[in-house]
Amino acid sequence: MYTVIGLALFAAFVACFHHLYKLMFNSYGFRLPLPPGTLGWPYVGETFELYSQDPNVFFASKQKKYGSIFKSHILGCPCVMMSSPAAAKFVLVTNSHLFKPTFPASKQRMLGPEAIFFHQGQYHQKLRKLVLRAFMPEAIKTHVSDVEAIAIHSLRSCEGRLITTFHEMKTYTFNVALLSIFGKDEILYREDLKRCYYVLEQGYNSMPVNLPGTLFRKSMKARRELAQIVAKIIATRREAKAEHNDLLASFMGGSAGLSDEQITDNVIGVIFAARDTTASLLTWILKFLAENPTVLEAVTKEQEAVVRGEQGLSWADTKNMPLTTRVIQETLRVASILSFTFREAVKDVEYEGYIIPKGWKVLPLFRSIHHSPDLFPEPEKFDPSRFEVSPKPNTFMPFGSGTHACPGNELAKLEILVLLHHLTTKYRWSKVGTQNGIQYGPFALPQSGLPLRLARKEEAAV
Ligand code: HEM
Repeated sequence: MYTVIGLALFAAFVACFHHLYKLMFNSYGFRLPLPPGTLGWPYVGETFELYSQDPNVFFASKQKKYGSIFKSHILGCPCVMMSSPAAAKFVLVTNSHLFKPTFPASKQRMLGPEAIFFHQGQYHQKLRKLVLRAFMPEAIKTHVSDVEAIAIHSLRSCEGRLITTFHEMKTYTFNVALLSIFGKDEILYREDLKRCYYVLEQGYNSMPVNLPGTLFRKSMKARRELAQIVAKIIATRREAKAEHNDLLASFMGGSAGLSDEQITDNVIGVIFAARDTTASLLTWILKFLAENPTVLEAVTKEQEAVVRGEQGLSWADTKNMPLTTRVIQETLRVASILSFTFREAVKDVEYEGYIIPKGWKVLPLFRSIHHSPDLFPEPEKFDPSRFEVSPKPNTFMPFGSGTHACPGNELAKLEILVLLHHLTTKYRWSKVGTQNGIQYGPFALPQSGLPLRLARKEEAAV
């Protein structure tokens, strides 16, 4: 008996050692070498080095040592990181069929396994068409006045208060996301959806331990409740048979052929994709404008020229704000909200004389590309004028690129322009405190969510 256990333990030890040896010493027997680089400690690899600091510091030191493609080991997986525009294009666009999206299983369970970002192939294409139909300019044009009403209300609620910018912007972007998904009907369900979504998000980065009292358990319960609310909205719509012009209508269309479960997973997925990204970008924009008074003055002037009073902004107005648009682009570049994305090689892939083994993660490093001094001179400087000239192809990818590129980018730009219009024409704001650091968790964000004081211009002048 003991001999059998002993032999089994010995075999397990040999297997582990063999796996580790192969990882460390690149003896997979491939014709080509693995990219250069180090894999760090067993299992944890270099996760701590990457996530405990500005990712640029980690990427830049690796790049200096090994060049623009190097291997590492993070979150329990061997991976290849790529920091050149050509490599990002190879993975995301020209050879995207060789690299599938990849997320931890617990995140898939929480957002919903049928959500768009977890898929490839026909099902993904079908979902993308439905999402793009609801978020293309023709469709979101019709939402401008409703987005404007939400922006005005959000800013009013911040007047005269010490605010945490990120927190307030999350409420704004959540409300716009609900508008784009459920149309004006969302108002009926907004508070319930908000309550459940806020519990869900608290468990998103928690340990996936499904035991009584854990954040993960509470999150999964909130997710079930969210699904019930969405199911109720779907049922009400089916009964009423009225016409709608929003994402839910696109998902529920007869030709879409989606099950209620697939619709729900994608509704929750879009809220997830839309809210924190846009809120984080808005927080950065407020910070950069507060720190660059000349740019703020020029943006304010541009916005004052389109004040429409009672009539409100039109879609055409939002397409005629060149300086404000450059401020958004430059903030997307400097802040690089999503530092990188993840894919997984579906088979052994050769690239630039190296092998990327099947199953390895591949990370195109958006932040490194956006901060390359060869592509963007003085990369740390906030200078919107650099976008007076279009960036070279594949050097500016804040919304990703290729088959999974962000379908919500037009809506994100619209809601940012509308909020900035009312903010710069009616309010003054100043940063509170001396904190100037950056938090990475998982989106890059000014320290403590950027505490601010916001006041109406006429009151601030008194
Ligand atoms: C400033 C705001 C935003 C940024 C920086 C951003 C960035 C991105 C990026 C980089 C990707 C691609 C990820 C990858 O390739 O792995 C992506 C995908 C996606 N985004 Fe956005 N996004 C923003 C706002 C939004 C909004 C407002 C919506 C919806 C209304 C949205 C919906 C989506 C969806 C559904 C996907 C998945 C697409 C697919 O897998 O085919 N995003 N986003």
